[in-house]
Amino acid sequence: MSKTENRGTQRAVFGSRFAAIAATVGSAVGLGNIWRFPYEAGAHGGGAFVLCYLIFAFLIGVPVLIAEFVMGRGTRSNVLGAYRKLDPHHPWYWAGYMGIVGSMLILGFYTVVAGWTLEYCIESLFGMLDFSTESAGHDQFVKLTHGWHPVIWTVVFALCNFVILLRGVSKGIERLSNIMMPVLFVILLVFCVHSFFLPGFEEGCSFLFKPDFSKLTPSTLLGALGQAFFSLSLGLGCMITYASYFTEKTRLAQTAVTTMILDSAVAILSGIIIFPAVFSFGLSPSAGPTLVFEVLPNIFYRMAGGGIWSTLFFLLLFIASLTSTISLSEISISFFTEEKKLGRKRSTALSCGITLIISLLCALSMGPWQNLTLFGKNLFDLLDYVASNIIMPLGGMICSIFVGWCIERRFISDQLTDNGRNRFIWLRPLVFCLRWICPAAIFIIFLDSIGAI
Ligand code: TRP
Repeated sequence: MSKTENRGTQRAVFGSRFAAIAATVGSAVGLGNIWRFPYEAGAHGGGAFVLCYLIFAFLIGVPVLIAEFVMGRGTRSNVLGAYRKLDPHHPWYWAGYMGIVGSMLILGFYTVVAGWTLEYCIESLFGMLDFSTESAGHDQFVKLTHGWHPVIWTVVFALCNFVILLRGVSKGIERLSNIMMPVLFVILLVFCVHSFFLPGFEEGCSFLFKPDFSKLTPSTLLGALGQAFFSLSLGLGCMITYASYFTEKTRLAQTAVTTMILDSAVAILSGIIIFPAVFSFGLSPSAGPTLVFEVLPNIFYRMAGGGIWSTLFFLLLFIASLTSTISLSEISISFFTEEKKLGRKRSTALSCGITLIISLLCALSMGPWQNLTLFGKNLFDLLDYVASNIIMPLGGMICSIFVGWCIERRFISDQLTDNGRNRFIWLRPLVFCLRWICPAAIFIIFLDSIGAI
């Protein structure tokens, strides 16, 4: 974000159109694509899940993303302020509180996983990861994540996040992500090419791309919807917050579509890397959250200079996670600064402090407190489930209904045409989607999965 003040409103703005896209894509692309997508796809039967995910990302994700953009840039406010400014008479702003709580829950487990990436990166940099045997992946993972390791690395990652946020998301991280995002993309392509030569390539790709509709259950649908929301950073007001920093020149709909395409591309690439390896090395695709961390070392083991590739890969993943945690933290920080008038430093400390406590509990639930479960899930899985499968779809539904039904159409069209400067021919279908398709689809999937219909 550039320090340029947006005169009159005293708020920071993203310096250019490219910076706006880079920041949005930076928020969207993260662990959700490279870590969460493959294990969710693996757990929900592969192809059918992937197809649903792509359909949801396009039909529900893009309209909701545009709706969040419209609210954010139109009001230039944090999530709570945006609802309140647009309708001061009704309690819509409670959706804002829900988003803030949701963002903290996600940060709770996200920070732990991001800590693993940092640990893998540092350990491979110093040659402490062992790539010499095929079973290395599993053993490494157990070694690196047992006991107090996750706690320590969670704190280290949380500190990185804190330090960058304190500086106001300014030039450093923006420049870093502008360069690192394309590099991450190139590395993923290299790994894909490598994947092509693995014996399990065909089996992996058919698992990923051939939908087996007998595997389509309500939980697959909810999982795919949750994944689409998670990956596009939707439903919590993150994109409302970021859009409030867009300039007048940023084209909202184009930015939304570009974000969706790049974000899905990274997820699919990651699938093409992981699944052929899973089948080549005789692992199970439904291993859950540990999948990627157990599979990747097997790939590095087969590559010349594995340690270097591993360092580079986890470094990039670390940076991708950082640009996402920054956007997640920004939801509550902007709330504290604008609604509670706390000042940047205090707001950042408060937001990071609360999330650090949650992530420490989460890290402990992976190590010393492993046996602590609630509703059959450990804290880690529980936070993910509640945030991704309940709060985010609900937040997306409320946003969609709000923009579709409660905001003047003139306001929406002004935002999408940049006050009449550009043409936007999709207004009717967009509003139709927001009024009917998105809320109905989310509602049905939701009810279906909790067994109500
Ligand atoms: N989209 C990010 C990822 O895929 C995670 C994320 C960042 C997020 N900001 C968010 C998820 C806001 C939900 C809401 O890793």
